[in-house]
Amino acid sequence: MNEKTLQLIKEKNQKYLSALVGKELPEKLVKQLEELDWSVLEYIHGKEQKRGTFAPLGAMELPEIEQKKAQFKEVGLEAIRAGKVGAILLAGGQGTRLGFDKAKGMFNIGETKELYIFEQLVRNLQKVTGEAGCFVPLYVMTSEKNDAQTREFFAEHDFFGYDKNYVKFFVQAMAPACDFDGNFLIEAEDSLAMSPNGNGGWFESLMRAGLDADIKEKGVEWLNVFAVDNVLQQIADPVFVGATILSQCVSGAKVVRKADPHERVGALCLEDGRPSIIEYYELTDEMAEATNENGSLLYGFGVILNYLFRVDKLMECQSKKLPLHVVEKKVPYVDLEGNTVKPTEPNAYKFETLILDMIYMMDDCLSFEVEREKEFAPVKNATGVDSVDTARALLKKNGVLI
Ligand code: UTP
Repeated sequence: MNEKTLQLIKEKNQKYLSALVGKELPEKLVKQLEELDWSVLEYIHGKEQKRGTFAPLGAMELPEIEQKKAQFKEVGLEAIRAGKVGAILLAGGQGTRLGFDKAKGMFNIGETKELYIFEQLVRNLQKVTGEAGCFVPLYVMTSEKNDAQTREFFAEHDFFGYDKNYVKFFVQAMAPACDFDGNFLIEAEDSLAMSPNGNGGWFESLMRAGLDADIKEKGVEWLNVFAVDNVLQQIADPVFVGATILSQCVSGAKVVRKADPHERVGALCLEDGRPSIIEYYELTDEMAEATNENGSLLYGFGVILNYLFRVDKLMECQSKKLPLHVVEKKVPYVDLEGNTVKPTEPNAYKFETLILDMIYMMDDCLSFEVEREKEFAPVKNATGVDSVDTARALLKKNGVLI
């Protein structure tokens, strides 16, 4: 952004903000504005993210995995027992679509008893630690908005039976939000409306929290990063870990076969020869429907936010910048009359980096097919698709008592 444009944007914002607070800007707000990365505003005017040339990337499919399962599992369990595998729970999101005002992991997904999302995830991890006979370090990313309540919740529930010495929390960084005219929103007279800066910030935030020391001390070589909202999430899955290690790839991604060629999920693929994720809206009809000689879709495997990264590679990529995404969200704000508004429709742009862009930083990635019905039950919405209801049904289908 050139100096002149930047100056104009700043002046417009200052005017808007002064009108909001009705006087000189409070010191705290001035400080926040000084520290702001104003260049994010460039992105709301449709600054295109340049993409390269896409090509399909085959997946390791279920029959092959089934055939080699015992070997993969042995290698995975060995790595887990040697302390080489850690898990990163991404729980810094705001879950605006669910409309639950606490951390999403605190949501009770139970029907006849209490069963919190965090609890269910820990249960899933305990299946592995029980078999391995050791604990897997679990790093939980929170945001400034939900950090205290998340820590308290784990403590109150005695870490759901997990060894608390193996659980560490870290807080992700925040980013501003602006209205559709490019004015930064405020959440109080003296502070900007800040939101978590996207799940792509996890590694930087982990490092900033000094947890690299813990990772080094424990000898963790692989990090399994996963989303809080999939209650069937298989964490530190030894079969996946073993398959990735044996593949000699530096990363791995769990994928599910698309339900139909136009399903709205990002598909794992190659971009300029590197592993990458192509969004459903970036696929032409021709690409979406193209099949190989077996009739499988070429861009037919969707990611489910369960990745394995080799730690040394992550360290190497630290200086690389992730692309910034502009997303439309519902952001509460203080309006010109000084009222706090809680929008029911998206009203603002947020600026986020996304974990899926980290895959492109990796030299290669094992695309690892899993059964959707067994491993993918996302809780995104209160009702309808990917909702509390669908997740409950899938939990029951998998024999989980809820
Ligand atoms: P989503 O993309 O579903 O975002 O997050 P969200 O903020 O949780 O929910 P909506 O879109 O407002 O309804 C996918 C995963 O990434 C984490 C979430 O907690 C979830 O595990 N995440 C997302 C973060 O950890 N930090 C963020 O800034 C955003």
